Amino acid sequence: MSERRSLVAANWKMNGSLESIHQLVGAVSQGMSEKTKSEVLICPPFVYIPELARLLAKTDIRLGAQNVSHLESGAYTGEVAPAMLKEFGCEYVIVGHSERRMLYSESDVRVAEKFIAVQANTMIPILCIGELLEERESNNTEEVIARQLDAVIDKAGIQAFKHAVIAYEPVWAIGTGKTATPEQAQEVHEFIRLRLARHDHETAEAIRILYGGSVKADNAKQLFELADIDGGLIGGASLVAEDFLTICHSVR
Ligand code: PGA
Repeated sequence: MSERRSLVAANWKMNGSLESIHQLVGAVSQGMSEKTKSEVLICPPFVYIPELARLLAKTDIRLGAQNVSHLESGAYTGEVAPAMLKEFGCEYVIVGHSERRMLYSESDVRVAEKFIAVQANTMIPILCIGELLEERESNNTEEVIARQLDAVIDKAGIQAFKHAVIAYEPVWAIGTGKTATPEQAQEVHEFIRLRLARHDHETAEAIRILYGGSVKADNAKQLFELADIDGGLIGGASLVAEDFLTICHSVR
């Protein structure tokens, strides 16, 4: 039996206002109890990080970011350095989300550089990987997952995965209401673990692999029950306190 502690991570994306985040964090933190077995994390937009750090200080909820620069400092207008996130109490940073890869042209190599930069600042990267619908339909899911994963293993080394989280997010399931079936998800999660195990069995066993893509209050339980699914990365449903709490309480 593995001893991986589940992680449920909220990815708020570009949503919220000062007023709404106060309400949301208030309701989520109040709804947490001894029933909450999983680790819970919120990744707000950058500007709300200081406010969230304050709001979460007396709770068990962790703080993370949705993106980061791969560089340390300098003339990079509009970028945010990893040390800045660390300074405000971020413990996790999402890297390589498909929206970053697709809408902001982040390459596999750039994602690997971000992964390394996050760890260099003693935070934990949540590496997102996942295939497009046409890649799944042409039976290329495993090839795509392997490519995205190997790009990071090659640059960061397998030992770096001892301090990382992976999120499998099929692109066709994100924000579409079309969740992967438990079988589809488990199959890819197992593939990811086996791919890591080729380099280091122990690291592969220990790493948490989250599922993301239209996780909702009514489908979380059946996904989280599966052997290789260690929690979720939640977009839309993380903006509704009741739904997010139900998801947090659905872990095994
Ligand atoms: P979704 O987003 O839950 O809204 O599908 C998940 C994600 O993009 O991380």
